Amino acid sequence: MRKQKKNKFEILENIRIEEMVAEGKCLARHNNMVIFVAGVAPGDVVDLRVTRKKKSFLEAVPVAFREYSELRVEPFCEHFGVCGGCKWQHIGYDTQLHYKQKQVKDNLERIGKVALPEFGPILGSAKTRYYRNKLEFTFSPNGWLTNEQIKSVEEFDRNALGFHIPGRFDKILDIQHCYLQPDPSNAIRLEVRRYGREHGLEFFDVVKQAGFLRNLIIRTANTGELMVILQVFRNDREAILGIMEHLKVTFPEITSLQYVVNSKGNETYHDLEVVCYHGLPYIHEEMEGIQFRVGPKSFYQTNADQAYELYKLTRELAGLTGDELVYDLYTGAGTIANFVARQCREVIGIEYVPSAIEDAKINSQINNITNTTFYAGDMKDILSDELVERHGRPNVVITDPPRAGMHEDVIAKLLQVHPGRIVYVSCNPATQARDLELLSPKYKVARVQPVDMFPQTHHVENIVLLTAK
Ligand SMILES: C[S@@+](CC[C@H](N)C(=O)[O-])C[C@H]1O[C@@H](n2cnc3c(N)ncnc32)[C@H](O)[C@@H]1O
Repeated sequence: MRKQKKNKFEILENIRIEEMVAEGKCLARHNNMVIFVAGVAPGDVVDLRVTRKKKSFLEAVPVAFREYSELRVEPFCEHFGVCGGCKWQHIGYDTQLHYKQKQVKDNLERIGKVALPEFGPILGSAKTRYYRNKLEFTFSPNGWLTNEQIKSVEEFDRNALGFHIPGRFDKILDIQHCYLQPDPSNAIRLEVRRYGREHGLEFFDVVKQAGFLRNLIIRTANTGELMVILQVFRNDREAILGIMEHLKVTFPEITSLQYVVNSKGNETYHDLEVVCYHGLPYIHEEMEGIQFRVGPKSFYQTNADQAYELYKLTRELAGLTGDELVYDLYTGAGTIANFVARQCREVIGIEYVPSAIEDAKINSQINNITNTTFYAGDMKDILSDELVERHGRPNVVITDPPRAGMHEDVIAKLLQVHPGRIVYVSCNPATQARDLELLSPKYKVARVQPVDMFPQTHHVENIVLLTAK
């Protein structure tokens, strides 16, 4: 018989929460042991139930609050605490910014172990609500019931349209109002749910792989253009055309109304046909007069206003005078590449996803930008001696890798090619710190500028300027 680990679920009483750390958790200490706790705020005094015990740390959840922190504010969303979307709503925005800045500093100091300049104060987002331009909602026939709903005697329609309960692929929280995306996002979602319920359209059951209405994507661009994509499980023509026509008539502001028949085991549709029912098959975002075409499969930064601030800082740190050859690594749909193209001689953009590179080329074309070249493929293969021979040694490299940071071969290539400046944009200060150390034999950190792209969440973006030693 397996031995039950002793004291695994022990209760720790009267624990003061110290600070917010990575992944939105808070840190506390007990008997020289570090404890990571979710759902609390620095300054709370709580009783904790240990949920995980490791040699060097514990994980725990609060079971009783003895004192509430002064840093707490009243969360504005009725779904706070159940929905996984905005986990930091219980602390004020200034406090959120303070801890995001601290998270960047701690990571760069502890992991990076490189000499650091003064940090610029984190650039907060002007909008702290309704700042996203894209949300994706999932249907479910047995929506999550909150504790209050379970206790109440009321009957609830379990057909839900909303977000996943954190960590649960099969549990969907029915959303009444979401503060992340501007109008008419809430109105469209509620109307699709109402229509589906009223017309007896089956909400898709992911466990049984049965049902019809599967997933809803809403994109609200800063040009006022509006895309709605409905994913359904079966090609039921009558039902599809019925709901499409209803949306077209009810929301004339939709400029791109599309649907996907997705009978696969998962919700991804990059390999499926997207059918445009009404309007154009794309929308546009805009920055400094540059139009970015966004198709149903295109990536675009989700906080568009703050992306503009991020790109302006990136361009400023790149120190462009008009003469430079710039490599934009991990270019996505070529947004940074096209954004800086008018301030330099030439830009080479590299990205893994072929359809994103197609978007990048279209975005150059529709803006009459002629000094960009884009390549699709794995960075470690494309950023080669041959590429550098063909285009020349870059004066500036802008790099914006995914959360995992840069591959060591890419770092080795950067050290070999040795551009004068590297502007490193990152959504994960821990991997950025690791990469800075690897680059440190030939680069010094000249500027550090954190930016908040996602208010009410623990995520933080950071720009670092590296100059050749
Ligand atoms: C943080 S996003 C950058 C987005 C872009 N700079 C922008 O602002 O819109 C990271 C990008 O790296 C791409 N990517 C991830 N792994 C890659 C690899 N091994 N080689 C090339 N690109 C990769 C992803 O597809 C994604 O588009």
